[in-house]
Amino acid sequence: MKRIYLSSPTMHEEELQFIHEAFEKNWIAPVGFNIDLLEKAVDEYINAASPVQYHTLALCSGTAALHLTYKVAGITKGTPVFVSDSTYCATAFPITYEGGIPIFIDSERDSWNMDPEALDKAFRLHPEVKHVVVVHLFGTPAKMDELMDICKRHDAMLIEDAAEALSSFYHGRHCGTFGAYNAFSFNGNKIISTSAGGMLVAPDKKAWDKAMYYATQSRDPVPWFEHKEIGYNYRLSNVLAGIGRGQMLHLDEHHAKKKRIYETYKEGLKDLPISMNPYLPNTEPNFWLSCMLIDKGVDVKPLIVLDALNKKANAEGRQIWKPMSLQDVYRGSEIISIEDYPVGYDLYDRGLCLPSDIKMTDEDIHKVIETVKGCF
Ligand SMILES: Cc1ncc(COP(=O)(O)O)c(C=O)c1O
Repeated sequence: MKRIYLSSPTMHEEELQFIHEAFEKNWIAPVGFNIDLLEKAVDEYINAASPVQYHTLALCSGTAALHLTYKVAGITKGTPVFVSDSTYCATAFPITYEGGIPIFIDSERDSWNMDPEALDKAFRLHPEVKHVVVVHLFGTPAKMDELMDICKRHDAMLIEDAAEALSSFYHGRHCGTFGAYNAFSFNGNKIISTSAGGMLVAPDKKAWDKAMYYATQSRDPVPWFEHKEIGYNYRLSNVLAGIGRGQMLHLDEHHAKKKRIYETYKEGLKDLPISMNPYLPNTEPNFWLSCMLIDKGVDVKPLIVLDALNKKANAEGRQIWKPMSLQDVYRGSEIISIEDYPVGYDLYDRGLCLPSDIKMTDEDIHKVIETVKGCF
């Protein structure tokens, strides 16, 4: 039986052409025309409807991009940072690389992202905090107006982890074009991929220059090798950027396919005691992963559904991200919620990500729907 994947790379012809071009011209290095053209393509895509123009910097991963956003944002040893609790580890880890202290903020139920009320509470408890990292979970835009408003009132810098949110829009404006410094990922499972890769975006050239400096071993602009700060080898390869260039040509097509998968699930599963991952009015998620939440009190657990998908449909799903405050590595960290039992914990208990692979046929999607139905 054919394997149905959660979200695997979907390649076209252009990607290989651009890789060949890199080979033909012998630009096999972390500099070159594919990098420049990928940066330009993302720049044009995300800035089209943004009142603020962001500069793009292609890096070797979304994690590297987040790491450098945190560095340019001034997160350092002992800096407390409010960060979404319900996320992938890479949102929080680079805060820890720098010796910063993550304080986790719970989700709300309308988009599963950072809860403005919980953030408000967090500022009452810790008015000294100056950095907030907001994730657009599964490509679904967070409540940006409310979150930005709160940050403004507290004179705090907002950073967007838009790793999962390329081609997601909030009120017509691209996610990742609101915060001070933001990051995207082109990891193999994302809506477009360079196998591994990411992008930092910054509205001011000075911050971009600083990020570029850190990404290229913090070398001073002198003819010899002079270093006054610790740096990193974080630039994207020109070969991999060729994949990204090709993928950007198909981003809207990928988005449309992801959306169709979500809507087909929503319709097909509508009679079950479940709901799909919600999104806010006037937003256009990229539907990177379609997720379902089993109603409270229903005696079907996510692991039962995942097991059935695997065994009966040869299909790959997975649990909702396990909240950071529940991870051993962050044991003892603070989680701020307005609920007795955090919303993110509840989503983790009852939610799962359904196969959302762009290459799924209608037959595959219906096989998943029938398998899920068979669990109830
Ligand atoms: C929310 C989130 N943040 C950060 C990352 C890190 O990106 P990368 O895997 O490209 O390092 C990912 C994805 O992998 C992610 O899903």
